[in-house]
Amino acid sequence: MSERLDDPRPDDVLQTAARVLARSAKLAVFTGAGVSKESGIPTFREPETGLWAQYDPMQLATPEAYRKDPAFVWSWYEHRFGVAADAEPNPGHLAIAELERLLPRVVVITQNIDGLHQRAGSSQVIELHGSMHSFRCIDGRHRGYSWDDFAEQKEKPPRCPECGDYLRPEVVWFGEGLPPDAFNAAQRLSAGCDVMLIVGTSGVVYPAAAMPMVAKEAGATVIDVNPERDALSQTCDLFLRGPGGEVLPELVLAVRSHLEA
Ligand code: APR
Repeated sequence: MSERLDDPRPDDVLQTAARVLARSAKLAVFTGAGVSKESGIPTFREPETGLWAQYDPMQLATPEAYRKDPAFVWSWYEHRFGVAADAEPNPGHLAIAELERLLPRVVVITQNIDGLHQRAGSSQVIELHGSMHSFRCIDGRHRGYSWDDFAEQKEKPPRCPECGDYLRPEVVWFGEGLPPDAFNAAQRLSAGCDVMLIVGTSGVVYPAAAMPMVAKEAGATVIDVNPERDALSQTCDLFLRGPGGEVLPELVLAVRSHLEA
């Protein structure tokens, strides 16, 4: 684990977090871009390396941007899809999937669109901001297309095989609402969990970032894993400083030893 200057003894915090997780009946794991960082997928708000430090989100991740220049926005998602397709789940994703095998009930509520939790083996995943692996025509009448459905189309963006409108990724752009089913499920599960483990989010984009407070107000113990303190750290009960790919495997080992004790 990285050097921690302002935290209580890190191993005590890790053991306390492991004890809490080992006793959990309903664990909600709330994740952001940081959990995929060690898979080679950039985050959004980290200085220098974050996507929003290099690109203007208003030119790339809004319905207006897509209407203004669909080919430009499409090419950016094509690039991001390529990065995600080349990425592998990292030890952090795998540790979260392991928790599902160790504990009675684990659900992942993610802001990520890369699909790496599912590829790591997590079977209960709510994608609050949608998925880059699914597409719909621009007015939403025809949904659920995958990249293979239009791989042979030369035009960019490709067109809906049903109505001929442009296709767009089924992701949530700035200014758009979250998918109602996903949002309602995330709220219900956050209100019903007894432990929430937060990994890799700056906690600044609402309404997704409200989930930890929903859990906290419902009496859950909230654990935050991040190399830096983030906007949610002050509401969490335990803060584990470090990258998810290092902290989570250590945490799972400690959970396992608590379960076997
Ligand atoms: N392990 C865990 N956390 C990490 C790691 C790591 N290896 N590396 C960085 N982090 C942390 C950063 O410290 C930061 O707090 O991950 C967080 C990433 O924050 P953001 O870049 O803001 O990403 P996120 O919180 O997922 O953004 C939320 O904003 O632009 C929208 O739709 C986009 O879903 C995204 C939403």
